[in-house]
Amino acid sequence: MQILYDNKDFIKDSKKFVKHLAVIMDGNGRWAEQRGLPRWKGHEMGVHAVRRLIEAAGHFRIPVVSVFAFSSENWKRPEREVRLLFSLFRRYFLSERKNLLRNGIRISVFGRRDRIPEFVREAVTTLENETRKCSRLHLRIALDYGSRHEIVEAVHSLVRDVVSRKIMPEQITEELFSESLSTADIADPDLIIRTAGEHRLSNFLLWQAAYSELYFCPKFWPDFSEFDLEKALADFQSRTRRFGALVASNIYQSDNRDASSEAV
Ligand code: FPP
Repeated sequence: MQILYDNKDFIKDSKKFVKHLAVIMDGNGRWAEQRGLPRWKGHEMGVHAVRRLIEAAGHFRIPVVSVFAFSSENWKRPEREVRLLFSLFRRYFLSERKNLLRNGIRISVFGRRDRIPEFVREAVTTLENETRKCSRLHLRIALDYGSRHEIVEAVHSLVRDVVSRKIMPEQITEELFSESLSTADIADPDLIIRTAGEHRLSNFLLWQAAYSELYFCPKFWPDFSEFDLEKALADFQSRTRRFGALVASNIYQSDNRDASSEAV
């Protein structure tokens, strides 16, 4: 693969360096329907797109990638499709083992573990343990994940700490709240990509996305290629990230700057 963009060029500029990429993979079903194929074929091709994404993310030196594989709302899909998706995930976890170890890819899953089928839970736990020491790239897979549920769980845990007088309510800060989330061990995503032309976060990493850059790609997930990733990364690097502050050029302007120069 020819590399036109390299994340490592920006390693010293933390605002331009994608340390954590999150992806909402959307459009498997529509990809299949457009071709007169059953929906499962779209999901199957979606797995190939995940492989391509990981390979490309490795080339671009992105250390952490989170993908939204199954949302808490996805349980509302027909039972057959849900069963098929979990079989596909299990097959991926089993068949990808050697490849992941060889390429130094760590796998971890986030989301509720109590509702996913036992045969998937087992495969996940084994793979998580086996790849724990891999350090080239960390692939985080959201399975039965919903951001609102994660936030409510964090509230429960903090309330318990207050009731048991471990902390005072005033001690609850944004930092402590972040630390109470199930994703606490990972920095917030710098860039979130969503495919299939939809412009929503759909309950994915809502708290963590406060300052993420969003990128929407019209292609369906099975068609998403390394070049699409490259385009998204180049777009990311052309943006000015302000994190709520003023842009550098505005900081030195006189006091008569108008409200429109205030960053958001
Ligand atoms: C969206 O397509 C995608 C999903 C429901 C997630 C499933 C993802 C895969 C099977 C990719 C493989 C993932 C891993 C971790 C190996 P959709 O069915 O919502 O598409 P539609 O909106 O067109 O119906």
